[in-house]
Amino acid sequence: MRIDIITVLPELLKSPFEASILKRAIQKELVEVHFHNLRDYTNKSYNQVDDYQFGGGAGMVLMIEPIDKCISALKSEREYDEIIYMTPDGETLNQQMANKISLQENLLILCGHYKGVDQRVRDMFITKEISIGDYVLSGGELGAAILCDTIIRLIPGVLSNETSALTDTFQDNLLAPPIYTRPAEYKGQKVPEILLSGNFPKIEEWRENEAYKRTEKLRPDLLE
Ligand code: ADE
Repeated sequence: MRIDIITVLPELLKSPFEASILKRAIQKELVEVHFHNLRDYTNKSYNQVDDYQFGGGAGMVLMIEPIDKCISALKSEREYDEIIYMTPDGETLNQQMANKISLQENLLILCGHYKGVDQRVRDMFITKEISIGDYVLSGGELGAAILCDTIIRLIPGVLSNETSALTDTFQDNLLAPPIYTRPAEYKGQKVPEILLSGNFPKIEEWRENEAYKRTEKLRPDLLE
């Protein structure tokens, strides 16, 4: 998979890709991530990429011209499966959406900033608009990092134990069951006996049951 990200603040976006699972996925060449600074695509003075809203109102708007130049340059080099705009009024990200996007080859992600982008950018270039939740961030960068994290970990070979993403919370619309590691007893708190039994069919049954109980208690909406 290749991901291109267009942003006015690449420095805000880079560090999640320089540690842990995402770093390893890049090193293993399972994913390529490229950052494009929108300011490199403007010919205005002071690298201006934003301007006041027509009609008045608070907040600056990212202009169409530098975005057009950047997207057009990238599109001339490869075809994108999706051109995604990170925005609080997009479709809310969930595991199902992440699963689907993780199957794509080439993704282009545009991060909004200030009030957002000129509507014509959305009309002309964007194929998918994604929100990471019903709250407003100061820009799309942190949302883009979250989107990338959730899809990159689903690429086969990224997680060392491939079944591990399949047993994640939400993968079957259930929360994950409780998990334990050594010691088997800590300050009087014991690990459930069944997990030490070696009886794997019974353990599986226990986990399914616990997952269901936990979902019913914490997220009954997932069972509807
Ligand atoms: N940009 C600002 N708020 C956002 C959100 N909730 N999701 C994605 N991008 C955003």
